[in-house]
Amino acid sequence: MHYSDFGLANTKKLLNRALHKGYAVPAFNFYNMETLQAILDAAKITQSPIILAVSESALEYMGGEILMGMIRGAEYKREQIALHLDHGHSFDICKYATDLGFSSVMFDGSALPLSKNISESRRVADYVHQFDVSLETELGVLAGTEDQNTKASAHSFTDPDLVKDFVKQTKTDSLAVAIGTTHGAYKKKSPNEALRFDILEQIATNIPNVPLVLHGASSIPQKYVNQINKFGGDIKNARGTSPAQIRRAISMHIAKVNIDSDSRFAFTASVRKTLVSEPEIFDPRRYLDMARKEMTKNCIDEIQNIMGSGYKI
Ligand code: G3H
Ligand code: 13P
Ligand code: ZN
Repeated sequence: MHYSDFGLANTKKLLNRALHKGYAVPAFNFYNMETLQAILDAAKITQSPIILAVSESALEYMGGEILMGMIRGAEYKREQIALHLDHGHSFDICKYATDLGFSSVMFDGSALPLSKNISESRRVADYVHQFDVSLETELGVLAGTEDQNTKASAHSFTDPDLVKDFVKQTKTDSLAVAIGTTHGAYKKKSPNEALRFDILEQIATNIPNVPLVLHGASSIPQKYVNQINKFGGDIKNARGTSPAQIRRAISMHIAKVNIDSDSRFAFTASVRKTLVSEPEIFDPRRYLDMARKEMTKNCIDEIQNIMGSGYKI
């Protein structure tokens, strides 16, 4: 299938608009029906364009056909929705997602030697561009737990001197940059530990027309960490990047902001609270409904207070 059969948009269109208007399109990850509905509801309420992000492991968890069935049923302006493969690590998975009906893929060659990152990114570009599917690539490495298969122990910041040539050679449509954000729930020693805005500024100067992407942008609201721990969880030292820093990055050419961990915290905090405070509940729909509402609330908050993408459609 082609993504146009689902009425979806590619990210090229959504991100170029965001870049020139100074906001960021949120890319929220989902893994099941409830998390998908939570994101769509938030987009609908805020009238925001939206990128539905699916990691390799989430794709495997849901199964491609069930996933596309849910997308077919998505009740929102389809031309404002992009379906995006997050951190595709091989040509084959990027091809699979494209053939399934995704409108955008990320080829993540950040762990490869530079020349291999370039050649594989270009190979993916040559395939996906035939179908007008947009491509995101990454230069530099984020620390932290990226997905169920990948973990990097240290940052390797994006080298601003390499970006122009990287974009030219790979033909990428957007570029994920490493400027100090970290994947997962254990980011900074202090939420105010600064990102490398100096690096971001140089990158933006060198490739002013390329939408930049910020991964690892969760702020990890402490109210959810506390709620999880209060209701039987055991999460220590979870900390994110402050919304103020993400907003500053958005003012400097970041046009796509990836958030996953915050949604996991919102969802889990709600499930824990419900199951402990209403122990008679055993119908999953009761606690899953409350959890998806909590996730929607958090997505709305981030769209309004961080992304600035509400009413931009
Ligand atoms: O950055 C990647 C996402 O947070 C997805 O991770 O493989 O656990 O779904 P996952
Ligand atoms: P967080 O772990 O900060 O939510 O980052 C998610 C992400 O970058 C998905 O690609
Ligand atoms: Zn990421």
